[in-house]
Amino acid sequence: MQILDGKTLGKEIQEEIRLEVEKLSKKPHLAVILVGDNPASKIYVNTKNKTCERLGINSTVITLPENTTEDELKLKIKTLNEDSDVNAILVQLPLPEHINTANCIKEISPIKDVDGFTPENLGAVICGKQPYAYPCTPFGIITLLKRNNIEISGKHAVVIGRSNIVGKPLSLMLLKENATVTMCHSKTKNLKEITKTADILVSATGNRIITKDMVKKDAIVIDVGIIRNKEGKLEGDVYFDEVKEVASYITPVPGGVGPMTIAALMKNTFELFLMQNK
Ligand code: GUN
Repeated sequence: MQILDGKTLGKEIQEEIRLEVEKLSKKPHLAVILVGDNPASKIYVNTKNKTCERLGINSTVITLPENTTEDELKLKIKTLNEDSDVNAILVQLPLPEHINTANCIKEISPIKDVDGFTPENLGAVICGKQPYAYPCTPFGIITLLKRNNIEISGKHAVVIGRSNIVGKPLSLMLLKENATVTMCHSKTKNLKEITKTADILVSATGNRIITKDMVKKDAIVIDVGIIRNKEGKLEGDVYFDEVKEVASYITPVPGGVGPMTIAALMKNTFELFLMQNK
């Protein structure tokens, strides 16, 4: 069994980007909008900000109060679209409940859409075309597989979770890499029978569900879950200690998919900057 070490690879990718950014006279600029005070979101935004700083990427965090209206948020996005100094825009999710997320996301200029969440970018992914940016978590996972020389083509990939952020785009990206893809979700019947046939098993549910008996021998197991347990420790969807007994490769939590997502965000920011400065 081999650990898929996202922490080390994420650092490597960050270093590659840092060296490229160092050569530039003008620097990339990521703007992050954070609405309200979701504690987890605040931590994520802080991490993104600090990583930018380390890589020589300019970053601005725009903090808006919980009672911000949809129109006010859209106006902010419009201002950033028009600001030629900003290359990448990220609206941290989840947004407060009174705001329609899809309505706001579609206001982001596709070429500045660092999350790849706009209809234009997701539409490109559906068509098997290159978007301006791929959603960061799926992009990080594909990078983790490829840089560990794991063959995707012809494999049966089972993705649990159908979110717009992870499950849906990742399924399409695995399909583009010629995997045979099965999408599972909370209403799937006989989940175990399906996961038992997975060569690549991705779990993105936020619930502790993946036990050893659900995993085929020598499967590649990717854990997207981040759950804080009663002791305050982070753990994933996968019962790591038992599943590692059967898997050929497995991502730990923390230190697997999380750092790859951050690395993908930095890569996207850098690439959007290059596209806008051609
Ligand atoms: N919240 C959780 N994951 C993400 C992400 O990848 N992008 C944004 N914008 N918000 C998130």
